[in-house]
Amino acid sequence: MSGKNVFSEGFLWGGAVAANQVEGGWNQGGKGLSVADMATYKKNVDVKDYDAHMAITSEFIAEGMKDESDAIYPKRRGIDFYHRYAEDIALFGEMGMKALRISIAWSRLFPTGEEETPNMEGVQFYINVFEEMKKHNIEPIVTLSHYEMPLALAVKNNGWADRKVIDHFVRFSKVCFEQFKPYVKYWLTFNEIDSIFRHPFTTAGIIPDKCPEGKEREVIYQALHHQFVASAIATRDCHEIIPGSQMGCMLTKLTTYPNTCHPKDVEKTLLKNLENLSYADVQVFGEYPSLTKKLWELEGIHIDIQPQDLGIMQQHTVDFVSFSYYMSLTESARDDLEITAGNTILGVKNPYLLSTDWGWQIDPLGLKISLLELYDRYKKPLMIVENGMGAKDEVVDGQIHDPYRIEYFKAHFEQMKAAIELGVDLIGYTSWGAIDLISAGTSQMSKRYGFIYVDQDDEGNGTLERMKKDSFYWYQNIIKTNGSTL
Ligand code: BG6
Repeated sequence: MSGKNVFSEGFLWGGAVAANQVEGGWNQGGKGLSVADMATYKKNVDVKDYDAHMAITSEFIAEGMKDESDAIYPKRRGIDFYHRYAEDIALFGEMGMKALRISIAWSRLFPTGEEETPNMEGVQFYINVFEEMKKHNIEPIVTLSHYEMPLALAVKNNGWADRKVIDHFVRFSKVCFEQFKPYVKYWLTFNEIDSIFRHPFTTAGIIPDKCPEGKEREVIYQALHHQFVASAIATRDCHEIIPGSQMGCMLTKLTTYPNTCHPKDVEKTLLKNLENLSYADVQVFGEYPSLTKKLWELEGIHIDIQPQDLGIMQQHTVDFVSFSYYMSLTESARDDLEITAGNTILGVKNPYLLSTDWGWQIDPLGLKISLLELYDRYKKPLMIVENGMGAKDEVVDGQIHDPYRIEYFKAHFEQMKAAIELGVDLIGYTSWGAIDLISAGTSQMSKRYGFIYVDQDDEGNGTLERMKKDSFYWYQNIIKTNGSTL
């Protein structure tokens, strides 16, 4: 099949970033603090110890709110996209990108989340960004909530645990639809909505010490329910305000294989995969899976569901399914097997796969498997909105040779092609992160994903100069030929 073009004309080749990982300007232009502004870089902590990296307490937040520097808080400085967006978007344009996925920092528009009207300086910043994208014919794909809710809502309301946050989010999202209507057709409500159990503070502003003792899981389920309702209302508003707009859900696709064919391994794996899919199930089918409801019952979880909620969720389902895919894991009924890291999760190591320096197992075929599975289940257009390889890059004589990254992408693109050949309706692909940025999980800068190198280290030293890696030119050619040169 080589040489035959299977990618549709208009396929959205692009890249993805999130506001809190690139913008910086954490206290500029009227922006309020967000939960991301509390994330610290922890030099001596094992990169697989996500609990330690993402731990939070009320006391720590109080300290962080007093601290006016970005020294230990890398997400406060990002890569200075706030001031350099025009240069960065020009580079994406030079690469030929058709699409760029960004997120809107909620606290740039609503500093505490409770204001009745938006901070227009924040609105203008995004209009400038969209104008720049337009110049380069880049289609925006916008995530409304990507790990950056206003910190004030976390402190005051324990984040999404409080139903009032639905109204604050709906007000924010409505402003986004109204203000960015001329520019944005593709929207996502919550980044990796399933991640709420892996990092409740980062995803939903939940502070463990504010949860009633022994009730943290119930609080998380409740917060998740609020997000589902908010997402459905935002989908309704998006369709009303922007005719022809497309709303997607966004799932961390944590594809898991049984470690052996022992039925116990298979059963455990099935439950794990069903749990992973259950979040998208709610947003596509408009109702909770019966298994989820049964698990609440068995665990003694009580969720406050208001009479109107289920109707709203049923009525306003998503138009497409988007997901991130980085790695796969295996599951076993045994507890003596080697464990490795995945995307803010640990799992049993797969003997057939190689891993990145961060322990994430590289599995291109797993992407094809995921695409086939998701399309078969949902029968909706699919978009891969994150995929990539975190690696240490070296600058040698002003150049960055990253054959490992090219190899990673090539292998994944080949599997996308194979899935499309089997009938999967894949409409776009945005690599993570199009440019080096601050890691979500570990707040490192040295975990680099980009086609564009940014001169900054983990401590924030560096000129912030942008440099093209070898993979920049390679991806440029893939986009130019619409994947036919794979
Ligand atoms: C995704 C997140 O889960 O993984 C991104 O949506 C994140 O925000 C990406 O950056 C990669 O994870 P990490 O921890 O390597 O930055």
